[in-house]
Amino acid sequence: MSELIAAWEAQQNAYVANRAERFGIVLDAIAYARPGVRTILDAGGGLGSFSRLILERFPEVRVATLDIDPALLSLASANLSEFGDRSLIVDADLVNDDWPAALEGWLPEIVVSSTALHWLPSGNLVSLYERLARLLPEGGLFFNADHLPLSREGSFFQRVSWADDARQQGAFAEGVPDWDAWWQRFAELDGFAEVIAEREARFAAKGNEEHLDVSPAFHTVSLRVAGFGESGTLWQHFDDYVVYGVR
Ligand SMILES: C[S@@+](CC[C@H](N)C(=O)[O-])C[C@H]1O[C@@H](n2cnc3c(N)ncnc32)[C@H](O)[C@@H]1O
Repeated sequence: MSELIAAWEAQQNAYVANRAERFGIVLDAIAYARPGVRTILDAGGGLGSFSRLILERFPEVRVATLDIDPALLSLASANLSEFGDRSLIVDADLVNDDWPAALEGWLPEIVVSSTALHWLPSGNLVSLYERLARLLPEGGLFFNADHLPLSREGSFFQRVSWADDARQQGAFAEGVPDWDAWWQRFAELDGFAEVIAEREARFAAKGNEEHLDVSPAFHTVSLRVAGFGESGTLWQHFDDYVVYGVR
């Protein structure tokens, strides 16, 4: 299983140029602004990539790793097991307004997310930000590290961002599995047929589509409207961003 987890990291690193740097700036911002933080939520945390980095960097912090995908969550349980009761695996859908009930009282002071919120339609994203504004304490922080490629057709920005994305192909040519190949490898492992079938049933029922029709400005304005006192862009590499909000 550790090979499959390592292959996930390679696959995501291939899709997201500078993914480590993108995680790193969030970790640094947390260390500078909230060194005494105790509880962090990783929303759409997958198999726990961001959660693991937080747990390693901040030994006093506990992390709730929330995702809708039971197959990735089963890998998250293994990936984060060494952190014992500092890790909580949460099976919930961010589109359902009652998802905080699944946190078992682990109320976060900081919420992070990586490469996940573009799976939510824009209306659900606005509702999520309203929910987060109610959930986070005053001074609480939100960081969304995500691919936000909305740009005018044929614009300079689109051309250079797409040109940069083409670098991904180099990694795949060298043998890093792409998204489909990685899921194929997972399906071939013994012991996961049930969770993979459950994943497929959930996504068949609700749809599983990327929504790439929102800009960074949409995020920052939605955060302000939802009740965050400050929002902005912390980091950018072409059309890949870290957007933040301060409650
Ligand atoms: C590309 S993966 C990124 C996972 C992880 N954050 C990372 O950076 O490796 C996107 C994740 O978002 C999750 N996701 C998508 N829609 C969701 C929803 N409505 N509620 C919870 N998680 C969701 C997916 O199941 C998946 O784990």
